[in-house]
Amino acid sequence: MKKKVLYEGKAKIVYETDEPDRLILFFKDTASAFDGEKKAYIQGKGVLNCQISSLIFQILGEKGIKTHFIKQLSESEMLVWRAERFLVEVVVRNIGAGSVVKRLGIEEGKVFDEPLLELFYKNDELHDPMICEEHVKVLGLVPSEAIPLMKETALKVNEILKDFFASHGITLVDFKLEFGRLPDGRIAVVDEITPDSMRLWDIETGEKLDKDRFRYDLGDLLEGYTKVLKKIKES
Ligand code: TMP
Ligand code: ASP
Repeated sequence: MKKKVLYEGKAKIVYETDEPDRLILFFKDTASAFDGEKKAYIQGKGVLNCQISSLIFQILGEKGIKTHFIKQLSESEMLVWRAERFLVEVVVRNIGAGSVVKRLGIEEGKVFDEPLLELFYKNDELHDPMICEEHVKVLGLVPSEAIPLMKETALKVNEILKDFFASHGITLVDFKLEFGRLPDGRIAVVDEITPDSMRLWDIETGEKLDKDRFRYDLGDLLEGYTKVLKKIKES
């Protein structure tokens, strides 16, 4: 049962429950981009994201990736383990798109020979700058033993999700993961994994199915997310 609001973010509300180690993530019907500069209410987004995230966490769990996911509770709520969250975002890219295209002057759509891993500092005031491992160490953002584990896990998740999406007609362009320490002391993937935090292109048509639809007014967001959910639910 939901109790006190622990934290409200741009796309989710985190609630405490009767059990101290378990939290409820409620997926809101809101979209935001560019550091919250662009915002919208999109009815139905929360339900789609909750279903997509739950399914992906289930798949990762089955493949041996430690995550905070316990179960989907309702159409817009996920039950998760409470985690001490690290202020680092790990981005893995298979194809150039988004910020890397601007930063490195490459063409959108450039296929990387190997997955490109980047680290970002979760800090709204600083607008989430890209950082390197040394910065992570100097700032003490994660326990030192966690950095190699996070990198290795992010690359494993990439392999799992790249294959999974490809088998459902979708190219996994890039995605962002967050990590934290669970009550049992283990380091796990936390937060959400949704088309808000991944770039997904239709393999056949190249159509963008993720939040870039909202960021760059490419088309109806719900239509893209609905296509993603429909495709990944097909066996
Ligand atoms: P980027 O190209 O804007 O750096 O984004 C890389 C991936 O990370 C993309 O799939 C979107 C995701 N992402 C988030 O989930 N949260 C964020 O705040 C940002 C900037 C990106
Ligand atoms: N989600 C972030 C924001 O609200 C950035 C993004 O995904 O583009 O600003």
